[in-house]
Amino acid sequence: MGKVVVAARLPGRIDEILAGHRVVAPAAGEAELPRARLVEELRDADGLLALLKLRVDDALLDGAPKLRVVANYAVGYDNVDLAATARRGIVVTNTPGVLTDATADLTMALMLAAARRLPEGAAMIRDGRWHGWEPEQLPAMDLDGAQLGVLGLGRIGQAVARRARGFGMRVVYAQPRPAAAEVAAALEARAVGVDELFATSDVVTLHCPLSPVTRHLVNAARLAAMKPRAVLVNTARGAIVDEAALVAALAGGALGGVGLDVFEDEPRVHPGLIACARAVLMPHLGSSTVGARTAMAETAARSIADVLAGRRPAHVVGGDAVAVHER
Ligand code: GLV
Ligand code: GLV
Repeated sequence: MGKVVVAARLPGRIDEILAGHRVVAPAAGEAELPRARLVEELRDADGLLALLKLRVDDALLDGAPKLRVVANYAVGYDNVDLAATARRGIVVTNTPGVLTDATADLTMALMLAAARRLPEGAAMIRDGRWHGWEPEQLPAMDLDGAQLGVLGLGRIGQAVARRARGFGMRVVYAQPRPAAAEVAAALEARAVGVDELFATSDVVTLHCPLSPVTRHLVNAARLAAMKPRAVLVNTARGAIVDEAALVAALAGGALGGVGLDVFEDEPRVHPGLIACARAVLMPHLGSSTVGARTAMAETAARSIADVLAGRRPAHVVGGDAVAVHER
């Protein structure tokens, strides 16, 4: 029996999965554990179910000497300092797979909205600026035959590519290692360099993790290299894009549009994006379907239960689960 701190009120059968452990979760009517309470409860906790906006670093971990597992309620885990957890032998897990379709669907929604200029059209109606059908109203991109550049052909990137092919798009991708031959063949996806991807794609969509290597990978030079009416979609992590450079590119009319679900400094959104009619903005909702969020919660809870029972959890991203098993 251990003590598990669950940072937020989450859906699913968490209590059942963590039965036998002492679970500390937000009080009724509270969405999240307040920071002070979280820190207090971590002092003698064995497990933590963490949100992606919680920085899990030395400062936090110094106050959690008994902690053995951090289950991140996300597939991305850039909020976790893996060196800090590794030094303490803490296992870190994430929730891949269960949110792939939800995130790919939202990516398509943003792509379609930005490419077909949905916010501008909707605003015309709301603002009383629509005076009837016209032959050349908000001319938009033809997705059929357009090239989709997928930066990171992992689970989510592949799911987006599959959907985009249903719209007649051609797929190119870039990532450090080529995709498995059967994956690339099934999608008829061609591997290109990052620079070629930006210079030749009509839509660029980001599906790589945030790391020191990918931070600001989409910078002023890459944005300037994009085709004149191209669309950029980001449902991965905000800091992969240099947001100030993106605002400048949009203000200069260099891009056709942008669809963003993530931002550099959430929940702050750059005022230049808010002011831009061609920016489709969503508040980090990629995985926010009932099914995905429930499966994420149960996956994370199961990882904690596994580590505390000496079993190897399914999705380890950091830490030595075998060492945990043996102690
Ligand atoms: C959400 O952003 C996730 O990484 O799961
Ligand atoms: C997430 O599930 C990914 O690997 O893209």
